[in-house]
Amino acid sequence: MSLKRPLSLIMARVPRWKVHWYTSVESTQFEAASLAEDGCEDRTCVVAQEQTAGMGRLGRKWHSEPGNGLYLSMVLSLPVPPDRVPGVTLALGLAAKDAIETSSELEADLRWPNDVLINGRKVCGVLTQLVNQRVVAGVGINVGHDRFPEELRNIATSLWLEGAMRVSMEDLFVALLDNVDMRATAFARDGIAPLIEEFERASTYAVGKRVAVEQEGRVLRGFTEGLDPQGFLWLRELNGARTLIHAGGVRPEEE
Ligand code: BTN
Repeated sequence: MSLKRPLSLIMARVPRWKVHWYTSVESTQFEAASLAEDGCEDRTCVVAQEQTAGMGRLGRKWHSEPGNGLYLSMVLSLPVPPDRVPGVTLALGLAAKDAIETSSELEADLRWPNDVLINGRKVCGVLTQLVNQRVVAGVGINVGHDRFPEELRNIATSLWLEGAMRVSMEDLFVALLDNVDMRATAFARDGIAPLIEEFERASTYAVGKRVAVEQEGRVLRGFTEGLDPQGFLWLRELNGARTLIHAGGVRPEEE
């Protein structure tokens, strides 16, 4: 995030958060994980203008163009045993989608578990980890990129490329933290069931979408059939088998 106003004025808009702002880090995720290891406060956030080793899901890199993206990681002290992490993951995707839509006035979609898409291309990724019994959630939003490297060109996009050319990075940041704060509180109070319903309404990928799912060493093909009560994705494979997807990359396929 590039700062257009003094940091103190921006921090005043998110009083419930303790924010660590950096010009350049390897990865906000590493920094936040290390703060979580050291027992930092709930609702600590690390945000950087540039990441030199941005980290994506499934061991991928996260393309982190300096100044053009929002790169941040949040530490949340939620009472989450490992089997409830999928609920947090859904909550974060919904929070990112809401913040993006509010700040850009564009319509976004969700791809299970928590990719945010605009016009079918990925504009935001979320990475959730458990560290020292806290949730460390990293969010990367492509804001001002006017192009992507060749290998990402067909799958990635930015708010700028989708026509939202005047998005305030500060407003996006504040909207995201407010939304995460609200959803973390709701998740701790109400559990996962309302999130599952909301996700199924908000995502065109949740039900009836023809997809390919990359699993370790194989690809499953079929149609999505909604989420199970823990937030995992049901897939009706083309051979008729019903398979619960716990992790993996989901991509659309032509019917
Ligand atoms: C994904 O692969 O979709 C998840 C991408 C998560 C990227 C963000 S950017 C801020 C935080 N720091 C990282 O190194 N990764 C996450």
